[in-house]
Amino acid sequence: GSCLESVKIAIDTGYRHIDGAFVYYNEHEVGQAIREKIAEGRIKREDIFYCGKLWNTCHPPELVRPTLEKTLKILQLDYVDLYIIELPMAFKPGDAIYPKDENGKFIYHETDLCATWEAMEACKDAGLAKSIGVSNFNRRQLEMILNKPGLKYKPVSNQVECHPYFTQPKLLEFCRQHDIVIVGYSPLGTSRDETWVNVSSPPLLKDPVLNAIGKKYNKTAAQVALRFSIQRGVVVIPKSFNPQRIRENFQIFDFSLTEKEMKEIEALNKNVRYVELLM
Ligand code: A2P
Repeated sequence: GSCLESVKIAIDTGYRHIDGAFVYYNEHEVGQAIREKIAEGRIKREDIFYCGKLWNTCHPPELVRPTLEKTLKILQLDYVDLYIIELPMAFKPGDAIYPKDENGKFIYHETDLCATWEAMEACKDAGLAKSIGVSNFNRRQLEMILNKPGLKYKPVSNQVECHPYFTQPKLLEFCRQHDIVIVGYSPLGTSRDETWVNVSSPPLLKDPVLNAIGKKYNKTAAQVALRFSIQRGVVVIPKSFNPQRIRENFQIFDFSLTEKEMKEIEALNKNVRYVELLM
């Protein structure tokens, strides 16, 4: 229920972009929050931008549309605004989300990302997704799609880790050249959950530069980190279950960072990921 409450608070606060996925196991709560807010008359469906994701076990082209339809059924919505390939690698299709063999090794699956992409294009043509994109793709993987013979739609976005300690300068430049929006996940440096986060990289929000700049504007390090990203054209998807922090993370449109401050923050880049996705 915390997801339901958080999404409702977020919508009341003014958030409109909601980043979800089947593998977060809370799409039913997100859908309920959106529908309740529509019923209250606070928003219309077209005000919301919902992003859903195609999981690794669903890359074979014939699985793509049924998987999206399942997400829509869970959400109880007619379409998603954006549907993205969550990761550029495939797992063995089936009920196991993380299929492993008897030695605990992931069972991968041979698929052709270009064929998966064609199935994504068909979802857009069918009106089930307004736009289609990718996530965790590197330049080579993006080029594979962009250079695909008969490409119908380019990926509109690439969702990757992006924040002051991992600024992605080269990928950002490449995506800019190709009109692909970078959506930055973990913009606050993650929850530092050791089961999936590389915690040997220091906590972003304790950074002295972010805190000193925040002091100047009467803002927190989190607000400075988010402002930095949006000011360089990176979409941010901060996560919080705390009402006060949900509101705090929205108060970033009433100040701006100087060019010098932007450079200072850019210089914090350590080129180290929090989310290593070692699978
Ligand atoms: P909480 O849910 O208790 O607010 P990211 O968006 O980079 O994945 O980071 C999410 C983590 O950052 C969560 O653990 C969240 O905890 C925490 N968080 C979210 N907003 C803030 C904030 N404004 N200040 C400090 N921590 C925050």
